[in-house]
Amino acid sequence: MTKSCCDQNEEEQAPKIGCCRQGTMAKLIFDNTGEEKEIEADSPLQEVCEEAGVPFACTEGVCGTCVIEVVEGMENLSDFTQEEMDFLGDQDRERLACQCKIKSGSVKLKF
Ligand code: FES
Repeated sequence: MTKSCCDQNEEEQAPKIGCCRQGTMAKLIFDNTGEEKEIEADSPLQEVCEEAGVPFACTEGVCGTCVIEVVEGMENLSDFTQEEMDFLGDQDRERLACQCKIKSGSVKLKF
C-alpha cells in the first residue's frame, strides 16, 4: 500500500518534507500585547509562546507555569492531553502551552 505524504511516525511532529501540509501556516494572536505570530500548522505552541513571553518551567504538563487562556479559536488547537486534563480539570478556556499544538487557522490567547 502506498503511504500518503501525511503518514507520520508517532514521534515525528512536523510534516515531512514535500508533504501537502508542509508550509501551511497558522497564526497565534497574543491578546495582551496585540502581537501576531505565524506558526507552521500542526506544530507545538511552545517556541512561539516562549518568544512572546509566556513563562515555561517543566515543559511536561506538570507545573502549570505555562497556562494560557484561549480567547478565540480553541477548536484550532489539538485535543487536551492527559496532563492538561489532570492539571486543568473540567474547564474549556485554559490550556498548557507546553502541551498543545495548533492545527490550523488562528488562535487568540492571553497569558
Ligand atoms: S511548563 Fe510546566 S506545565 Fe507547561
